Amino acid sequence: MTSNPKERAALAALDLVEDGMKLGLGTGSTAKFFIEHLGQRVRQGLDVEGVPTSKASEELARANGIPLFELAETTVLDLDIDGSDEITPDGSMIKGGGGAMLREKIVARASKRFVMIADVSKRVQTLGAFPLPIEVIPFGQAATIGEVRRELERLGYEGTDISLRSAEAGGFFETDSGNLVADLKLGRIEDPKALDEALTMIPGVVTTGLFLGCDVHQILATEDGLLNG
Ligand code: 5RP
Repeated sequence: MTSNPKERAALAALDLVEDGMKLGLGTGSTAKFFIEHLGQRVRQGLDVEGVPTSKASEELARANGIPLFELAETTVLDLDIDGSDEITPDGSMIKGGGGAMLREKIVARASKRFVMIADVSKRVQTLGAFPLPIEVIPFGQAATIGEVRRELERLGYEGTDISLRSAEAGGFFETDSGNLVADLKLGRIEDPKALDEALTMIPGVVTTGLFLGCDVHQILATEDGLLNG
C-alpha cells in the first residue's frame, strides 16, 4: 500500500468502481492517481467509460487506455471522482486550483454519486484560506473584475487581493473553455452561498470554484490510512 495520501484516497475510490459504470474523471494531482490506477484496471478487463473534466485529464485517460465519451442531454453518470482544494465537514468545497471548475461542475451535476478524494490537509472548518477561483470571460474582463470588487465590498470583504491567474508559459492562464481565471484572496468565507450567488449574478463571471450543496462522499487520506475508516 502506498504512503502517499493522494494515491491512497484514489485507490479507495477505485473500490467503488463497478463493471459497466459511466464515470466522471476529475482533474488535478489526486485525480491523476485515480485515472492511472483506473487505466491499470481497464487493461485487466474492467469495462467502464469516462467523461474527463479537462483536456489534461482527457489526455491522461487516453494514454491510459480508458474509453471516453461525450456528455449528452440524457447522459447520467454513475460516479464522479474528483479532488478538492478545500472541503468542510458538511461537504462545501473550493475547487478550481487547476482551473477546471466549470467542466468539473457540469460533470458533478450529471452524476448520481460524487466522490471527493484528497489528502487530509484539504479538510477545513471554514472555506477561504485557499484563494477562490472564478472563471471570467475575456471580453470586458477589467470591467467584470471591477464589478466583482464592488460586490465583495458590498458583502463586507474589504480590499480583497484579486489577481488574474498567469500561465506557466507566460501570459494569462486560459481555461479549457477559453476563459480567464481570477483568484480572490478572501481569507475566510462566512457565507459561501451568498457569495456564490452574488458573484455568479455578475455578467462576465461564468462560474466560481464554490461547490455547495452537493451530496458528496468524502475520502480523505493520511500517510497511515483513511480518515474515519
Ligand atoms: C482542479 C481542481 C482539483 O480537483 C483541485 O485543484 C485539487 O487538486 P489536487 O488534487 O492537485 O490537490 O479543482 O480544477
